Amino acid sequence: MSGERTPIVSGNWKMNNNHFEAIQCVQKLAYLLQKEDFEAVEVTVHPPFTDLRSIQTLIDADQLRLKLGAQNCHAEEKGAFTGEVSPAFLAKLGVQYVIVGHSERRELFGETDEFVARKIVAVQRLGMNPIVCVGETLAEREAGVTLDKVRGQVQVALAKRTSEQVKSLVIAYEPIWAIGTGKNATASDAQEVVAAIREEVASVVSRPAAQAVRIQYGGSVKAGTAAEFMRQPDIDGLLVGGASLDPTEFARIVQYRRHAY
Ligand code: 13P
Repeated sequence: MSGERTPIVSGNWKMNNNHFEAIQCVQKLAYLLQKEDFEAVEVTVHPPFTDLRSIQTLIDADQLRLKLGAQNCHAEEKGAFTGEVSPAFLAKLGVQYVIVGHSERRELFGETDEFVARKIVAVQRLGMNPIVCVGETLAEREAGVTLDKVRGQVQVALAKRTSEQVKSLVIAYEPIWAIGTGKNATASDAQEVVAAIREEVASVVSRPAAQAVRIQYGGSVKAGTAAEFMRQPDIDGLLVGGASLDPTEFARIVQYRRHAY
């Protein structure tokens, strides 16, 4: 990672932890993390929607430095969208980061690049920061089209964003074949793709936006592998799924600097 960009480590709990479990998990995490950790790394947790109010209350009451995140939202603020959650509701709950275009949303729920782009606009309009996920399937990797895939996703996602808007968002490179499989991309492979994403931001948006935008790696990250990814010059953070459900493991990931060598 570069010294100019603040590292960001995010825990995406996916569909795990009811609101009681969520409170326990966050309390334990807050106990394990120290002031120095929050000074060095921005830490976000992304519980399911039904947990958000409980976690917001806990963060406020205990003045925790953890930041509240969501896993998804709709692109519209209100209307006839049964079962969907408005980004305006998330903003009202103190949510600061919203994951958009996670590969599970794209693959299982049919979200297109265009729909993801509309969500990015909506999230930023409400003063929150999107974490925009991109990544290739195993078949795409084997066909040698990884860079084409992620560049195309970045182009559509950022087409309607200004340089200033892009500076404040986060991109997460998550190779789909590495999610929940225990298979990591190697740190140098991840670096190569993340550097290509940064170049694409420079050509689609601007060089200053490319220098400022933070790019996370995600896919089977564990405490033992976190430091290696974070040593790469273009990787500014980690988007962690399974390992974020265990507060001890997730705290060790946030503390990657201590376990680096
Ligand atoms: P895992 O860390 O469980 O592979 O999940 C990664 C992910 O999808 C985070 O959004």
